[in-house]
Amino acid sequence: MSHEAAIENLSREERTFPPTEAFAAQANLSDPAVYEEADADFEGWWAGHAEKLRWMKPWDTVLEWEAPHAKWFVGGTLNISDNCLDRHIESGAGDKVAYHWEGEPVGETRTITYSQLKDEVCQFANALKAHGVGKGDRVAIYLPMIPELPVAMLACARIGAIHSVVFAGFSSQSLADRIDDADAKMVITSDGANRRGKQIPLKSAVDEAIEKASGDSVETVVVVDRTGLAISMQDGRDVWYHEAIAGQSTECAAEEMDAEDVLYILYTSGTTGKPKGIVHTTGGYLTQTTATQRLTFDLKPDTDVYWCAADIGWVTGHSYIVYAPLANQTTSVMYEGTPDFPDKDRFWDIVERYGVTILYTAPTAIRAFMKWGAEYPESKDLSSLRVLGTVGEPINPEAWMWYREHIGPEDAPIVDTWWQTETGGHMITPLPGITASKPGSAMRAFPGIKAVVVDDLGDPVEPGQGGYLTIQRPWPSMLRTIWGDDQRFKDTYWARFGGDTYFAGDGAKLDEDGAIWVLGRVDDVMNVSGHRMSTTEIESALVDHESVAESAVVGRADDLTGQAISAFVTLVGGYEASDELEAELKVHVGEQIGKIARPAEVYFTPDLPKTRSGKIMRRLLKQIAEGTELGDATTLANPDIVTALQEAAAKRS
Ligand code: PRX
Repeated sequence: MSHEAAIENLSREERTFPPTEAFAAQANLSDPAVYEEADADFEGWWAGHAEKLRWMKPWDTVLEWEAPHAKWFVGGTLNISDNCLDRHIESGAGDKVAYHWEGEPVGETRTITYSQLKDEVCQFANALKAHGVGKGDRVAIYLPMIPELPVAMLACARIGAIHSVVFAGFSSQSLADRIDDADAKMVITSDGANRRGKQIPLKSAVDEAIEKASGDSVETVVVVDRTGLAISMQDGRDVWYHEAIAGQSTECAAEEMDAEDVLYILYTSGTTGKPKGIVHTTGGYLTQTTATQRLTFDLKPDTDVYWCAADIGWVTGHSYIVYAPLANQTTSVMYEGTPDFPDKDRFWDIVERYGVTILYTAPTAIRAFMKWGAEYPESKDLSSLRVLGTVGEPINPEAWMWYREHIGPEDAPIVDTWWQTETGGHMITPLPGITASKPGSAMRAFPGIKAVVVDDLGDPVEPGQGGYLTIQRPWPSMLRTIWGDDQRFKDTYWARFGGDTYFAGDGAKLDEDGAIWVLGRVDDVMNVSGHRMSTTEIESALVDHESVAESAVVGRADDLTGQAISAFVTLVGGYEASDELEAELKVHVGEQIGKIARPAEVYFTPDLPKTRSGKIMRRLLKQIAEGTELGDATTLANPDIVTALQEAAAKRS
């Protein structure tokens, strides 16, 4: 069933869950007036949150807005690592646990206090300097979910270096592209990563990436000894992490950073083949991520044990595993592995052992838990949980209800948070002490954010209508540009509706109460298990294979992963369609981009369905892949192709 159809199927009463009185009574925010107040003076609202941070020099102006370029907290200076570490230690919280780290191998754990984290961050920051990394230099980080990952990010932030974390599931080619685009001076990696009891090599992928990179920007590779996998170390270039920090001082002065200095670049898929380097800066980013973590999750740093079960390789991990939680002095759980290793109760075992109170995960994970069965969560004590969050893709109402019934105590609020790599922090979400929630809806814009669903012409739609999701006011953690390509920044986000309207690329619907239901991408971006994938990027990877002449890729609905990748290819003369070639093409895409980009199926066809003017009809391909009725096909030049493909799809389903 489509997301929209599932929503329609619920009665209005069934779909509204107001906060309980007990929850509202203890909530950080419970007065709905906050929405109007923040609206009336959004700059003042955000400035109030910025004041909770430690500034080295106060700002002169809250916002300078020359659409589409924003500067927040102009003239202010601060250091993020100082805010995440030193500030807490100086206030006496040095012994507080920052991370309960849990390795994938059962029994392997590390408890890291704020003081310990600060010491190691300083040691590594000094090591970075010793290897010639300074303010403004780019550092690529290609690490699994181990403590050295936040250490490396914070060490960069401490000295003003710009990190670019590359998800460790990406291929050497993807890493090479990102190293080149950012001109990274250093790469930080590990020998390998633990994945479902196996060891996956990472250092060798870095070696390949440096080989493949067209530039020669990389001077140093730092390697964490994680798995003991055999690797080769290149003399003069490669250095072990433990050797790099050995003997370094545990003190390193935090660099004074301008509020608008770049904190990091994070690449994300767009509608063209080339990933976009999303640029985030310092003061506004930390302001919004900390405010949203506190208010969206009703965070009580003194008592909560918070677990965002994302990977730090994506923006969710940057904002809500590393920066906001540490700046808010949170005690977090950080987990290295998969939810089903060694068994399908791993998450619930972790929740029980650490007494997790706030859990933040993705709809795809929830659907997998549903499939595995309620006996796994039921076998553990999950009564510590009090707030549940979801992120990354639309959550189907069934999964939402299952989350409520089987994971949280029945009255634990669920916050469905809509945001993007580009937005840096939450944008649309219920506030758990104020906003009623409805299964499948992200409800309403966070205070201070102006989200408007508009029609084709850019006019706001009425309740009950669908349209495009836009943001019509600057926000502190907004992306500032695309690294090295400001024109693309303007064209991608600001051109569709003009002026100062940010176009998110998502379709959305307003319901009769004015709640926002995000329906998914309306561009050539797919969402597979909450991961953004570009159709064009995968098409380019396919035609890169010697056998493929032309390709078209679509995201089709999938019960488990939200969307799955269906590829359609025509072959170069002399190549024959076969199961072996299909398998080879999937592997090839995996090598080009990463395993997450592998198509679920590859259809071979003598031609792609095209209009008479030669345009590929992707809409039809999606309908073919989903086995739904074909829409208008009157402009189709080659109807026979479509019939044959429909038959092939029917055979697979
Ligand atoms: O389509 C929306 C979907 O994920 C996209 C952003 O992906 P990414 O930049 O990788 O960031 C994901 C984590 C913040 C959006 O354009 N999306 C994200 N959250 C939701 C969502 N769709 C519906 N509901 C959500 N809560």
